[in-house]
Amino acid sequence: MHLRPVELADVPMLVRHRVRHSKENGKDGDPIFRPFETDYVAQESDQRQFTELLQKPVTEPGWLRSWIVTDEEEVYGELALVNQPALATALHRCLLMMGLERSIRRQGWGSKLISEAISWARERPSLDWISLNVFENNLPAKALYTKFGFRAVGTTRDLFRVYGKSIDDTHMVLRLR
Ligand SMILES: CC(C)(COP(=O)(O)OP(=O)(O)OC[C@H]1O[C@@H](n2cnc3c(N)ncnc32)[C@H](O)[C@@H]1OP(=O)(O)O)[C@@H](O)C(=O)NCCC(=O)NCCS
Repeated sequence: MHLRPVELADVPMLVRHRVRHSKENGKDGDPIFRPFETDYVAQESDQRQFTELLQKPVTEPGWLRSWIVTDEEEVYGELALVNQPALATALHRCLLMMGLERSIRRQGWGSKLISEAISWARERPSLDWISLNVFENNLPAKALYTKFGFRAVGTTRDLFRVYGKSIDDTHMVLRLR
């Protein structure tokens, strides 16, 4: 198992990972970590859009970069940095999203992914901030982000109601320089 930047040819195994991972949401002791009650479904436009965004320079609105944990047969974890909002006036910021399947958690892969992404972002002079959103009930993720220097800047109470449970959503930021 190793970590590497995603490539366009990885899309089929990335989709399989997202489907498996989405099934773990709020199940068997997992916290609720996504605001959907249905499993991930790949859209036909996904591959086209992914290809386009991965190739965008970080100086253009909407760019995306992603790293995966893989054995080259399957993907088990993913971290993406996306320019969001995708605006010329927000090119100094990006949004972090990540998810690891249960089978590879608590083995340091989350730390390796986030550390790789922060190092990559610090080497981009145009980037000053990484931000993210995390559900208040997601204690493992909050602990990971705090360990890597993210600070909570605000919480929206009752943003989602997933499986009948009210979800508070916290925004966290990391200043890169
Ligand atoms: C959150 C997540 C990315 C952590 O990844 P991981 O590979 O298990 O984390 P690591 O093994 O690198 O652990 C790093 C730190 O994370 C925190 N952490 C991870 N799992 C934890 C748990 N179950 N309980 C408490 N803290 C936890 C700890 O601070 C840990 O540091 P420590 O080992 O010194 O205590 C992973 O649990 C995950 O993908 N969960 C499901 C999807 C998700 O929640 N995504 C985030 C949405 S915002």
